[in-house]
Amino acid sequence: MKITVIGAGNVGATTAQRIVDKQLANELVLVDIVEGVPQGKALDMYEATPVEKTDVKVIGTNGYDETANSDIVVITAGIARKPGMSRDDLVSTNKEIVKSCTASVVAKSPRSIIIVVSNPLDVMTYVAMKTSGFERHRVVGMAGILDTARFRSFIAMELNVSVEDVQAFVLGGHGDSMVPLARYSTVAGIPITELMSKSTIDRLVDRARKGGIEIVNFLKTGSAYYAPSSSAVQMVESIVKDKKRILPCAAYLQGEYGIKDTYVGVPVKLGRKGIEEIIQIKLNADEQAALEKSANEVKELIGKLKL
Ligand code: APR
Repeated sequence: MKITVIGAGNVGATTAQRIVDKQLANELVLVDIVEGVPQGKALDMYEATPVEKTDVKVIGTNGYDETANSDIVVITAGIARKPGMSRDDLVSTNKEIVKSCTASVVAKSPRSIIIVVSNPLDVMTYVAMKTSGFERHRVVGMAGILDTARFRSFIAMELNVSVEDVQAFVLGGHGDSMVPLARYSTVAGIPITELMSKSTIDRLVDRARKGGIEIVNFLKTGSAYYAPSSSAVQMVESIVKDKKRILPCAAYLQGEYGIKDTYVGVPVKLGRKGIEEIIQIKLNADEQAALEKSANEVKELIGKLKL
């Protein structure tokens, strides 16, 4: 198993470190355009492996030769948000970056599965799919796991219970229009609608929606990376180990949920082949409308791209 992580910044380096710590690959290649940074971080990471007892070869590079025949590619390259910016403000800069990284990496790894993390997430995943020419099951975006992880954390904090017992369900694009579904969010199997008032749930939903900017406002110089990298690595693990986990991810829809020709967050089965199934659940009218609104916002932004 060979994994390439493109972008050796906060999200990329932390993703690489988690992959190495969990020994999900025999070889991990870290790529960045800044000279010395991927080499330095990769060497530092490799020097931790004797202590951590993780037998992974870690290589840093500014080129793509070393990435050849990767099984999985995680794209984190691009600029991150600063206070006052929305994810959509990143679109023109990150489009060019994701396009060039995708073209370079797929030339060397034509059979890989691509996981996109760069924002705005749903649109960048579309850019990667179109640029790669890959089938839709091999290009998937990371957002829903992060959004649900945030929602789960806030539920656990509110009820003073272990995060382990909290499950949550979020559909839609990675942005303010995401659609957390309270009736499918549970604590030890009990729907949160039985445990909290509607106003409390609404407050937590709103905080989850704004979870990214909350971190940006604290950090001021960049955006979140611990929870985003954990979420990306959960996807990597499900693919590497063919776990077939059902995870909320950005998938290209072709009629599922009545939505076509766009990426949006839905539950998918992730295994060795990538997206092995898009899970469709019955939504009520409000939920369907919220999902369609979210998908339309992604579509609108895609419409403005000149690929
Ligand atoms: N090829 C390779 N690496 C690139 C390229 C490129 N063409 N362009 C930029 N990079 C690298 C930068 O040099 C930098 O090291 O991408 C890295 C981005 O790292 P950070 O600035 O630390 O940003 P990070 O917090 O990692 O976020 C990266 O993920 O979550 C999203 O919104 C976030 O779009 C952002 C991305």
